[in-house]
Amino acid sequence: MKIISNPLELKEYLKDIDKSVGFVPTMGALHEGHLSLIKKARKENELVVVSIFVNPTQFLKGEDLDKYPRKDEADKKICLLAGVDVLFFPHKKDIYGDDEAKIEAPNVRGYVLEGATRVGHFSGVLTVVMKLLNIVSPTRAYFGKKDAQQLNLIGLMVKQFFMSVEIVAVDTLRESDGLAMSSRNIYLSSEQRVEALKISLSLQKAFGMVNQNILDVSKIKEQMRTVLEPLEVSYVEVLNRDFAPIESIELKNSIILVEAKVGDTRLLDNIWL
Ligand code: PAF
Repeated sequence: MKIISNPLELKEYLKDIDKSVGFVPTMGALHEGHLSLIKKARKENELVVVSIFVNPTQFLKGEDLDKYPRKDEADKKICLLAGVDVLFFPHKKDIYGDDEAKIEAPNVRGYVLEGATRVGHFSGVLTVVMKLLNIVSPTRAYFGKKDAQQLNLIGLMVKQFFMSVEIVAVDTLRESDGLAMSSRNIYLSSEQRVEALKISLSLQKAFGMVNQNILDVSKIKEQMRTVLEPLEVSYVEVLNRDFAPIESIELKNSIILVEAKVGDTRLLDNIWL
């Protein structure tokens, strides 16, 4: 496995490679969820590039940038064992200068749900993803469905900027008790870990209701909020796959999303119906 930190060196290395390239951008602290993205990329491409970069522009002031989990050596081993060909490990100065052009998240979709409480977060995400995609020029790039809003906005950017990359959405991986895997789960104490299960349970409740043909969104949200009590819920939302609110579940075209705080940790989860 080649480890490269300089963007221009990586571009130069990939320039003459006549192979399909699968790219998995990450912020490190790799877990099974990331591994499933890497495995899919490995299966579908001749060359696999993973990036590890804790992107400062997607953290708001007062958020967990400084304490965001960093596990560089363990991450390198995971990538090596997973058959990654190139690990891109840039420093902040390799990615950002002083006076920067940036991508602005769309006014509506970028500022609802997570974007409403984390104002500017998605502009930071889109800016770094644009930079990373331009550096790697992959055939396919892999993102988890757990970050559904991020995935939707990246898909939108790629379409609206006429970029030549296929965005591949990968299913959420869960712990055996249902908790969605996330790098932030390590912040949870054992009591909070139990409380956090209310998030996946609320989605299971919604799934059960839909199976009983209860498609009314306000009823589903009400029941979910009951399951989530007493967590501090940022939102429970039901949208279609274009991220527009709906009043009744449309099968094969709906996403139910939750964000709740457990202690100081914001946790996201969703199901795609
Ligand atoms: O999902 C993440 O880990 C990050 O938001 C991403 C896409 C790597 C951009 O920093």
